[in-house]
Amino acid sequence: MTPPVQHRWLRWPNPAGSDGAASGSLAPPVGYGADYNPEQWPREVWAEDARLMREAGVTIVTLAVFSWAKLQPDADTWDFAWLDEVMDLMHAHGIAVDLATATASPPPWLTTAHPEILPVNERGETLWPGARQHWRPTSPVFREHALRLVEAMAERYGDHPALAAWHVSNELGCHNVYDYSSDAADAFRGWLRDRYKTADALNDAWGTSFWSQRYGSFDQVLPPRLAASYPNPTQQLDFKRFSSDALRDHLRAEAAVLRRLTPDVPVTTNFMVMGETRGMDYVGWAADLDFVSNDHYRQAVERADDELSFSANLTSGIAGGKPWYLMEHATSAVNWQDVNLPKSTAMLLHDALTHVAHGADSVCFFQWRASASGAEKYHSGMVPHAGADSELFRGVVRLGRTLEALAPVVGSERAQAPVAILFDWDSWWASELDSHPTSLLRYRQEALDWYGALLDAGVRADVVPVDADLSGYAMVVAPVLYLVPEETAERLRSYVDGGGHLVATYFSGIADADDRIYLGGYPGALRDLLGVRVEEFAPLLDGQTVRLSTGAVGSLWTEPVQLTDPATEVLASYLSGSLAGSPAVTRRPVGTGSAAYVSTRLGNEGLATVLPQLLAGAGVVSELPASARGTVERVVRTDGDAQFVFLVNRTEHRVVLPATGELLVGERDDDGAVVLDAHGVAVLREPATAS
Ligand code: GAL
Repeated sequence: MTPPVQHRWLRWPNPAGSDGAASGSLAPPVGYGADYNPEQWPREVWAEDARLMREAGVTIVTLAVFSWAKLQPDADTWDFAWLDEVMDLMHAHGIAVDLATATASPPPWLTTAHPEILPVNERGETLWPGARQHWRPTSPVFREHALRLVEAMAERYGDHPALAAWHVSNELGCHNVYDYSSDAADAFRGWLRDRYKTADALNDAWGTSFWSQRYGSFDQVLPPRLAASYPNPTQQLDFKRFSSDALRDHLRAEAAVLRRLTPDVPVTTNFMVMGETRGMDYVGWAADLDFVSNDHYRQAVERADDELSFSANLTSGIAGGKPWYLMEHATSAVNWQDVNLPKSTAMLLHDALTHVAHGADSVCFFQWRASASGAEKYHSGMVPHAGADSELFRGVVRLGRTLEALAPVVGSERAQAPVAILFDWDSWWASELDSHPTSLLRYRQEALDWYGALLDAGVRADVVPVDADLSGYAMVVAPVLYLVPEETAERLRSYVDGGGHLVATYFSGIADADDRIYLGGYPGALRDLLGVRVEEFAPLLDGQTVRLSTGAVGSLWTEPVQLTDPATEVLASYLSGSLAGSPAVTRRPVGTGSAAYVSTRLGNEGLATVLPQLLAGAGVVSELPASARGTVERVVRTDGDAQFVFLVNRTEHRVVLPATGELLVGERDDDGAVVLDAHGVAVLREPATAS
């Protein structure tokens, strides 16, 4: 089981500012700000920065993320004077600091003296300095230098009155999650020894009798470097687990120094719960932090708003429903997509408040001032190249005012939804390995499809780690829960036995923790619970589809589903294709609970044809008025006394809906109904028992 999530929030300093907005206020504000990189600008600009921050309502900035080369110009020289000045400047303006440990990007003097810290890719090619994050997570040399810097930072700034939290490194694993170097090989062997104890146990788990891969000792094992054909799948899966753990180990090493020297200062690091970023299994990492932080950038995908909401929701799940810190998002365009579109100030508000709805108590950006040079000079900031006299900066100021009105929300937690969607990194990694029935399967997309379909139905869902407590959820969806160790199968069985309604999809329950197939028919570990048996998969070619009796269209995957329990009902059948006439969606009643199975990919539209039956069976009804179902996302936070209802307009049209409560953000029309402009958001406070 995952260790419990920590929660110790920002240490809001007592601002020294004469007219500081936060000065003297007892209630913590919403964190509002950005990565602030003053070293990119002449000192004359700093005073203007501080003034504009105050104008925008900035309450916190992240400093020193990429400052190593400036703070330590060579091995024995330190230069803190400039950072002292910036820390003091922030403090004088009532702005708190989330201070980075500055270890994210090693300086040229270090890589010149120690090229052995540079990562190596699967082809054996060195990743050279010149960009950023060019370090091996397992390099003892890098670790030693990084911890020296962490110690220096903690000693210098641990007592600084502006310091609100420590920010370990930056986006650990953004560019260096998979390193195949000799250091990585050594550490991987150590990790495998801990896991398997004996080479025989490893051989058994990895199935090395296949293709003559039997290992005589751990010393013979390598990372899955470029090979003649498919590397052993469990070796690949274990290398993914190991690589995530190696970064986590670095996080823990930095955090240990900080906690030793400054035990009162909370520690965080920024996760990347977004899109297809999958290298780090953050579920365990949360236990090493005092609070969870996340970075999210709008993805260039269809239904990008759903993806944003899903990511924020999953971040909340990783944070155990506790508040979290949105460390980075973008005020407008990014610089790293093929075509980088600007964002309207309406969307600026929409995105920020969607994160707050899902538990963010801080709303921050990369970065404060858009750079004039460097690789990210075309990335937006809170102050654009055009300067403060710009529509963007005016939008930033308006957002600051809106967040001030949301101060009462700070500290409130996720109010449990009726439906949970399970999310599992092991299944993500293992279901998408090579040499599978199809290479077209996308684990996260299936979860996202269910999330979007529930949003379309106006039903609130929590995205939660697979080992989360399921009690209290009327319905639990397990999309492509491929890897199901016996204890997970047992938890799902007892959830259903206790009256819960489980829905699992194709390619679930297939393998154990070592990616070994459960024999006797699919879906293996869940076969009896679901009351179905499948002898062979029948994936579909790209573009190929099948029709279902509900009117839905299936793609990607089909299966000849046999019913093994006479009580199992067929909710939908295949109408076309080689499986015409056989069951496609089934449900097995179990006491007052049930276990349903969806054997094909239905996508948002197809799911809309089966969800009503599944939801009705679980007794789940939309909490939204009929007129707003699908057009509005409703999210709820609670502090026990009050609940905060966020209504997010998912459309480009104006939506008007009845809603009770005190309006913290938004407006009502003459009839008292809440009015949401295109993509608009309203926030209401009402007594906790109201719904
Ligand atoms: C993040 C990173 C920031 C900046 C940003 C640009 O990955 O932490 O430093 O690069 O992306 O979108």
